[in-house]
Amino acid sequence: MRILITAGPTREYIDDVRYLSNASSGQMGYALAAAAVAAGHQVVLVSGPTLLAPPLTCDFHGIETTAEMLSACETAWPDCDGVIAAAAVCDYRPAQRIQGKIGKTGNGLTLELVETPDILAALGATRGRRWNVGFALEAQDAHARAIRKLQRKQCDAIVLNSPAAIGAADNSVELLLPNGNTAAKWSGPKSEIAKSLMTWIETNLGTR
Ligand code: C5P
Repeated sequence: MRILITAGPTREYIDDVRYLSNASSGQMGYALAAAAVAAGHQVVLVSGPTLLAPPLTCDFHGIETTAEMLSACETAWPDCDGVIAAAAVCDYRPAQRIQGKIGKTGNGLTLELVETPDILAALGATRGRRWNVGFALEAQDAHARAIRKLQRKQCDAIVLNSPAAIGAADNSVELLLPNGNTAAKWSGPKSEIAKSLMTWIETNLGTR
């Protein structure tokens, strides 16, 4: 298969030197890219800034903003069989990017934020016969919120994890299906969870 994987955080610039982002390390997405390459698949890895090295043989696209991630994904999507969206995408961006550097005035500063495009939902809307697997990081009412995201983004499955996953080497996840059932629960190093998820995708989605 040719698999599109999103990974890492996105950045949304306030001015030319400051941005909004999050604490995603990219480890889960890069572990998935490594597992997919090791299983013999072609990988298109679209990643925000991380300290990680992508697998040598993947088609790597480094991006910063959500708009850049969307554009790279939309370009890659027609040639892919499915997508695993592990990126921690900024939900909001400053309404305007100020040129240069905002100076201090002695007063407070109010930022106007607008929503960013939902990449996984955009890919889901044009998926045709392709498969979509998302991630949901939820702190409360986790199961129900993850299922709502799965439905809204037209996913075949969604990997539910908790805020403890951010920046950690290990993870504990539940794989949820559109009917609300739990297909699997995996705990351990992200590299092992990535292998388990790849095997599940090959068995349940890759052969449709
Ligand atoms: O941020 P949220 O909880 O909605 O993320 C759920 C899933 O949607 C994740 O797989 C994430 O990579 C993806 N997503 C996206 N574009 C966004 C927000 C989230 O692709 N703007």
